[in-house]
Amino acid sequence: MKRIGVLISGGGTNLQALIDAQKSGILKSGEIVCVCSNSASAYGLTRAQNAGIPTKIIRKNADCGGDLDEFSHKICAYMKEMRVDVVVLAGFMAIFGGELLKEYADRIINIHPALIPSFCGKGMYGLKPHEAALEYGVKVTGATVHLVNEVVDGGRILMQKAVEVHDGDTPEILQRRVMEQAEWIILPQAVENFCAESENK
Ligand code: GAR
Repeated sequence: MKRIGVLISGGGTNLQALIDAQKSGILKSGEIVCVCSNSASAYGLTRAQNAGIPTKIIRKNADCGGDLDEFSHKICAYMKEMRVDVVVLAGFMAIFGGELLKEYADRIINIHPALIPSFCGKGMYGLKPHEAALEYGVKVTGATVHLVNEVVDGGRILMQKAVEVHDGDTPEILQRRVMEQAEWIILPQAVENFCAESENK
């Protein structure tokens, strides 16, 4: 059983999907052992507490003086303290490098709300990929689960799912459809596959 640490920044619906997948048995090769947020007001913290999962807040500015290396170091130290094997970024909006990326190389999984290589990279997070997809006029978008490396949204793709764009969609409506039809399905599935495969290595 792999020990999973989840990093969040906001609502935590992808965290909830992981918690639900653990309850239903879809996620069975890994166990969520802690949740870390870079925002004190993230509702995902409440979701974690409701599920009995230990939480921690580590903020880049308030706790690390705005220093990205210190931020990465503090998150890494917490992951190690909790004996985490696999780190999942579930709506984590801070870019980091440094120690965490080194220590957990090829063991950090991210969910991105678009079909990489479209609408991704620096600055493309949250609602922005959906705004960009609507502006471009694509008829299909979706979500991507991928490994994290030093290139933003550039690591190996683990799973993708396409979602239709409808006439009259707003970024919010499209975001919700992508979450419901893609993110909440492929994130738990990809995390399960990854944990199961690394068990067998
Ligand atoms: C999700 O759509 C996730 O894919 C996206 O932010 C949202 C978080 O929602 N992540 C990124 O944009 C990362 N670059 P949640 O907090 O409800 O899971």
